[in-house]
Amino acid sequence: SHNYEYIQVSEPRPGVGQVTLNRPKALNALCTPLINELNSALREFQSSDSISAVVLTGSERAFAAGADIKEMAPLTFSAAYRGNFIESWSELTTALKKPLIAAVSGHALGGGCELALMADILYCTRGANFGQPEIKLGTIPGAGGSQRLTRAVGKSKAMELILTGKSFSGEEAERWGVAARVFESYEELLKGALDTAETIAGYSRVAVQAAKEVVNKSQDLALRDGVEYERRVFHALFGSQDQKIGMKAFAEKKKPEWSHQ
Ligand code: CAA
Repeated sequence: SHNYEYIQVSEPRPGVGQVTLNRPKALNALCTPLINELNSALREFQSSDSISAVVLTGSERAFAAGADIKEMAPLTFSAAYRGNFIESWSELTTALKKPLIAAVSGHALGGGCELALMADILYCTRGANFGQPEIKLGTIPGAGGSQRLTRAVGKSKAMELILTGKSFSGEEAERWGVAARVFESYEELLKGALDTAETIAGYSRVAVQAAKEVVNKSQDLALRDGVEYERRVFHALFGSQDQKIGMKAFAEKKKPEWSHQ
């Protein structure tokens, strides 16, 4: 429906929305207009009744080569601070209640790596090129990399990566738990991401949203509070129609027909 300049939007599978970053000349560098388009597409997927899960990808060569260095170069402290530069990127994690799968091939550097880390599930190719090279530009990660990468790989490895700016491969990303799965080619990666999104889209939307919400709580809460939060949401789901539908179907050996209520 929209004519975007820097992204492509599609519904490749039943219940699945896809955003493809499409700024090939700059290896999908994340300029402000691109982020605005991404936010707008995700907001539309969030409010669409036909979409249950979202895949975010780039090209085979680049998921995203970072924030746009040419846009940032002349920025002053005052403009960055008063305009809350990069804050709008967080909309990805706050506005979208539906699961987001990042499918990463090629470069995922700086803000590109950070964007991928914001996804609920990260898949990548074996040869993907992740890294936080900001130190080489005289700056530091600004879209959550120092926090999310550290939670994903531990302090010592995150320090090494962020202080040296050296990259890590898709294979390492999978070994370290940054990526859930690794694929041999871009085609297999995209198929894998869409398959998983379609699987998720086949479940009760109420349950899926609750599952995403409680897993995300584990990143913010201490264990006891997190377990208690999970139990409250688990209790609440006994108020959903889909819990009755799902458990009745199991007893009758039938496939559940979700109401999503
Ligand atoms: N911003 C703006 N333009 C970029 C870009 C970026 N992050 N990354 C690549 N480009 C542009 C290049 O300037 C080049 O444009 P021109 O053709 O007009 O010169 C085009 O994309 C193709 O890039 P290369 O010719 O450099 O391609 P390559 O294959 O030789 O190298 C690369 C690929 C290793 C990814 C290299 O482009 C590179 O190092 N890019 C920058 C990576 C980086 O430092 N990212 C972190 C940015 S800081 C940040 O993200 C802050 C934050 O935390 C939010």
